[in-house]
Amino acid sequence: MGLRRTVWCGEVQASGVEVTVAGWVDATRDHGGLLFVDVRDRSGVVQVVVDPGAAPEVWEQARQWRGEWTVAVRGLVRERSAANVNPKLATGAVEIVPAEVAVYGRARPLPFQLDGAAAVEETTRLRYRYLDLRRPDLQANLRMRHRFTAAVRAHLDAAGFVEIETPTLTRSTPEGARDYLVPARMAPGRFFALPQSPQLYKQLLMIAGLERYYQIARCWRDEDLRADRQPEFTQVDIELSFVEAEDVMALAEGLVREACRAAAGVELQAPLPRMTYGEAMVRFGSDRPDLRVPLEIVEVGADLSGTAFQGFAQPLAAGGVVRALRVPGGAALTRRELDALTAEARNRGAAGLAWFLLGTEGEPAGPVAMRSPIAKFLAPEQRAALVERTGGAAGDALFLVAGPAPVAATVLGWLRLWAADRFELRRGAWRALWVTDFPLLEWDADAGRFVAVHHPFTAPHPDDLALLAGEPARVRALAYDLVVDGTEVGGGSIRIHDREVQSRLFAALRLSPEETADKFGFLLEALSYGAPPHGGIALGLDRLVMMLAGADSLRDVIAFPKTAQAGDPLTGAPAAVAERQLRELHLRADAVRT
Ligand code: AMO
Repeated sequence: MGLRRTVWCGEVQASGVEVTVAGWVDATRDHGGLLFVDVRDRSGVVQVVVDPGAAPEVWEQARQWRGEWTVAVRGLVRERSAANVNPKLATGAVEIVPAEVAVYGRARPLPFQLDGAAAVEETTRLRYRYLDLRRPDLQANLRMRHRFTAAVRAHLDAAGFVEIETPTLTRSTPEGARDYLVPARMAPGRFFALPQSPQLYKQLLMIAGLERYYQIARCWRDEDLRADRQPEFTQVDIELSFVEAEDVMALAEGLVREACRAAAGVELQAPLPRMTYGEAMVRFGSDRPDLRVPLEIVEVGADLSGTAFQGFAQPLAAGGVVRALRVPGGAALTRRELDALTAEARNRGAAGLAWFLLGTEGEPAGPVAMRSPIAKFLAPEQRAALVERTGGAAGDALFLVAGPAPVAATVLGWLRLWAADRFELRRGAWRALWVTDFPLLEWDADAGRFVAVHHPFTAPHPDDLALLAGEPARVRALAYDLVVDGTEVGGGSIRIHDREVQSRLFAALRLSPEETADKFGFLLEALSYGAPPHGGIALGLDRLVMMLAGADSLRDVIAFPKTAQAGDPLTGAPAAVAERQLRELHLRADAVRT
């Protein structure tokens, strides 16, 4: 390499100084002989001006240059003439007059233009990810991610945490997704599982007496992908001993506040609000309420008691609920939209969706004129009560769902977010909160048994322990989730540290003693050698950074992400392997689809 960089392109400032910059040709412009070249490195762009009269040899070389070649330029910095100053550019007041230039690498025409890349099909961008990543906005995201992890490390180090790596070739941990498996050559027919989280190892580290552990941990989950899910993703994984839920939440809250501030200047509310799972489900129809949406679900069952309308009377008689959601502006919805919403509500388990459009022409005229196929079934006082309870006003729509409480919650929770999109109701950002008191277990109809809501190592609330055998659905967990703008960005719990309680929980999950011994024997054994009370949390690093960066997809904050088909178009992974490799692993591939 002939020319050595003396300054970053984006930092060229003082005129009259000789500098050498190195980077990529961002753009070239030929203005009647004068050649302008923008040279870019990770810090920004600087303009180079080549005058054929003044430097014929340099000009001869530079006029060959094409976009994305790697080059170096040595020359004098001078001020631009007033007319040519570009206030949008950090280096817009100066330019370099080159004395010497060098080319390091030529580039073929790119498969897509970098400045239009956001519109290019994602597979193509990922196939050429090293070009895609040349875009300044993606580089800025990765730098923000770095600042976030650097702040996490500094904060946890100061709080006495030890960063410890745990194995990736391990046994399956039950976080609820499918495992990625790795065949073991030395043990024919056996497999490692890539960890869905370091959950059991961090608990073992507490039993080992490390007291305060953390890890920026890679996790693997083979599940259906969405914009906020990747098959490999990163957690800030934390575990502490001799603590209660409050201690873990306080630590995590301080950590997230500090890292968001350091990475992006985002200030979180202090302290973060708390809400129980039960309250979140009733008021927002979700265990991860998006508090940017200023709409709440309300109970209207009492206002409708005695109604002749069977759609409400029957569910109420059966011990169900009637709940309502007011949608500002909803009276403008067309009949077609209302029918589509009703159909979708049915898809989601509701018997129907009752709607009332307020303040529109039509009958029956009440305290507020309302239009609805079922208004005529309601007494005037009931209509008035409905409007008052929901705070309805002319121009609004009221939607009612009657049925079992969980169904009403799910359907109105969905409708709330739909309305937020349709009527652009979201206000503000970074509305974070803790959701607590989750149920420990939930019924899995497919499996015909209870399953853990978080994972089977989460401690039951001590007051509810007696319910475990008889009424498992009523047992609360010592678990907490951190939610930001409707996204779950972290989750954790106090763990079971008592061997006997852990065994009872496995029994409540209908794991046979043999299965328990086979899968979790090592944990039960470890718990029998003096386990400290312990608990922790895992923060979704990719999700937090995605939100800080204002990105729509995790792919924008991960250097080499997977596609929706969980593949990598750049390397072609996953790929077929040689017959010989399979034989060594004692495997046979049934079919390889190309
Ligand atoms: P959990 O399964 O809730 O808890 O995961 C913790 C956080 O990780 C993020 N997350 C994901 N991010 C991107 N892609 C995914 N596929 C994905 N899945 C999860 C979420 C989530 O809140 N061992 C427990 C933690 C504990 O109990 O300490 C665990 O893994 O932001």
